[in-house]
Amino acid sequence: MKKIGVLTSGGDAPGMNAAIRAVVRRGINLDMEVYGIQRGYEGLLDGEIERMYSYSVGDILQRGGTILKTARCKRFFEDKWVDHAAKMLQTFGIEGVVVIGGEGSFKGGYELSKRGVAIMGVPGTIDNDLGYTDYSIGFDTAVNTVLGLITNIRDTSSSHERTTIIEVMGRHCGDLALFAGLSGGADVIMIPEVETDINEVCRKVLRGQRSGKGHSLILKAEGVEMDAAELASVLEEMTAREAKIVVPGYIQRGGSPTEMDRRLASLTGAKAVELLYDDMPSRAVGIQDGQIISVDLGEAIKMKRDFNKEIFDLAEILA
Ligand code: F6P
Repeated sequence: MKKIGVLTSGGDAPGMNAAIRAVVRRGINLDMEVYGIQRGYEGLLDGEIERMYSYSVGDILQRGGTILKTARCKRFFEDKWVDHAAKMLQTFGIEGVVVIGGEGSFKGGYELSKRGVAIMGVPGTIDNDLGYTDYSIGFDTAVNTVLGLITNIRDTSSSHERTTIIEVMGRHCGDLALFAGLSGGADVIMIPEVETDINEVCRKVLRGQRSGKGHSLILKAEGVEMDAAELASVLEEMTAREAKIVVPGYIQRGGSPTEMDRRLASLTGAKAVELLYDDMPSRAVGIQDGQIISVDLGEAIKMKRDFNKEIFDLAEILA
């Protein structure tokens, strides 16, 4: 394969730039022409495609976000637009594309792969919700961002003897709340994978109060259906303590990527290019037990994420 493309799609994640850099520089190193596709599938449909050079990706390793921009493309749900995208790639002579993104982006890529384009998925999402890989690019940075917030919130929460509910991102996946909750010492972790009853949350907070805790922290994943405002009001009533809600929102998606995210991005980005160079059919690249792996793209999309119950149980014991 001589000409390849690279795009970022869906929610941006810290480390996407490091992955773009790896794709471009490994591609050039293998004598390939690398083309940057702007704004994900939106830019692909509109032909926003430009050749990239080694200097195009200079000084981006440490930057959050994505220099290629990103979008959630509604048109890509329609067959006619996927056909159009395949034709657009043909016009540019691009035979393979590295898609950096999450589940939705991989699904779009899979549709494109049915039209004869080789697609290599590189996992880029703070949600960490892809089943085939232990970690996705951006997750580690986001966890550390949430951890920093917990540290700050702890100061004020303890000073005012309050309960603070921190609602973090993650869509249907609880990993962000789970990992930050364990490492931040949350008193209660609420994730969509484990059904949580409002009375149970109150019981846990009360148990903490009785054991001498001056304040409580609750890490709630956005995918948990219980309304944070309702939870706060029930908690105030049941525990006779003020309850506040913090929703960090997009703060979690920004910032300079951690070493782990830069490394994961560099390794998976380079691996994706090597697979294209070897003319492999569409695959998703990831990490399992510390090893860079790749699995069939169609299979990767189907794999459900196993939630880490050991971490959840341990966090409860340590709280
Ligand atoms: O998928 C990443 C993510 O940040 C989710 O955690 C969140 O639910 C969603 O994107 C927000 O999407 P948008 O940027 O479209 O508001």
